[in-house]
Amino acid sequence: MSVHLQKLNVLGIRNLKPQNVELSQGLNVLLGANGSGKTSLLEAVSLLALGRSFRTASARSLIQHGSDYCLVQGRVVRSGQQHALGIQRFRNGAAHVRVDGSNAQSLTNLAELLPVVLLDTNSVDLVTGSPEGRRRFLDGTLFHVEQGFLSCWRAYQRALRQRNAGLRRGTLAGDEAWRREMARAGELLTGIRHEWVERLANKTQSLGRDLSTSLEGLTLQFRPGWDVQGSLLAALDERLGSDRQQGFSQTGPHRADVRILVDGRPASEVLSRGQLKLAVTALKLSQGQLLAEAPAGAPLYLVDDIAAELDAEHSLAVCALLSNSHAQIILTSANQSDLERLWPLQSIALFHVEQGSITAKPTGISL
Ligand SMILES: Nc1ncnc2c1ncn2[C@@H]1O[C@H](COP(=O)(O)OP(=O)(O)O)[C@@H](O)[C@H]1O
Ligand SMILES: [Mg+2]
Repeated sequence: MSVHLQKLNVLGIRNLKPQNVELSQGLNVLLGANGSGKTSLLEAVSLLALGRSFRTASARSLIQHGSDYCLVQGRVVRSGQQHALGIQRFRNGAAHVRVDGSNAQSLTNLAELLPVVLLDTNSVDLVTGSPEGRRRFLDGTLFHVEQGFLSCWRAYQRALRQRNAGLRRGTLAGDEAWRREMARAGELLTGIRHEWVERLANKTQSLGRDLSTSLEGLTLQFRPGWDVQGSLLAALDERLGSDRQQGFSQTGPHRADVRILVDGRPASEVLSRGQLKLAVTALKLSQGQLLAEAPAGAPLYLVDDIAAELDAEHSLAVCALLSNSHAQIILTSANQSDLERLWPLQSIALFHVEQGSITAKPTGISL
């Protein structure tokens, strides 16, 4: 089983003209010159799935110059059921989310219907960037694969926010209750994270090995965010004086990390740029496999300009893995010969992208 984004409707996204795009259930390829709007279309899908673009943190830069808002709507088939998804984002950051004709409370209502795996050109940030990106990657995956995850994640975040507000103001009346709640939800959250990092690590290790000998020693190491020799409550109690002084909670699952190592050393320090890209690819493909094994089924893969990211041998290997996943894929390419080298053209849905317009092309001998 896999998710299928059947139809996409975009308005006010970067240089894209307002238009409908009908996507195939298998491999969709966007072929077009630099600046034609290929990545913008992937960003539109990312907005619909995650409420944000992978290219920028601010919704504003995604909105077309001269427009007040952008709008993306999609029809998704999931577990045999059709769903209508929509998101509208305004310059001031506000968002309207609609699912099946009703206003939705949160972006998670979109995310749960449209799981995506992103192989974009900023993906290396996952290894070289801050722990926050890795927590988001992990939690965004767990939300799909473990039923109880979202509720304990929310409970922890709420307790943390409330406790920090008290610490900041110096009002400590409720502090003990919030510490207890952080400890309760945080231990649950950590148990789930721990278990799944192990599964992710096994997959990443074997995919890494398959992709390149330089990744043979690739491992993931979970850091829960506090000293797990004792309980989380004990760790919070121990830091009480210093937390009061600092005005925030310095320890706990909100400080967790997944360290990415090669032979025990940080991957970001020992791998070349090209090898780092491969390591991230192994991690993302593993994420895709975990999602595919969950009841929800295989995710939609968004793959931006892989031929420019990886060398010929490795881009071919990654495309073979993607093709075996039998998932829906939207892939971009600036170069027709790369495309012909990587995929058998008969089995793709091909789109030409030109100055923000996307046109379906029949595939065959000549493009
Ligand atoms: N907010 C915006 N409004 C209008 N055009 C934009 C905006 N942001 C970027 N662009 C333009 O959109 C075009 C498409 O970019 P992009 O999707 O990255 O192209 P590709 O991935 O095909 O190389 C670029 O020419 C860029 O200048
Ligand atoms: Mg691009």
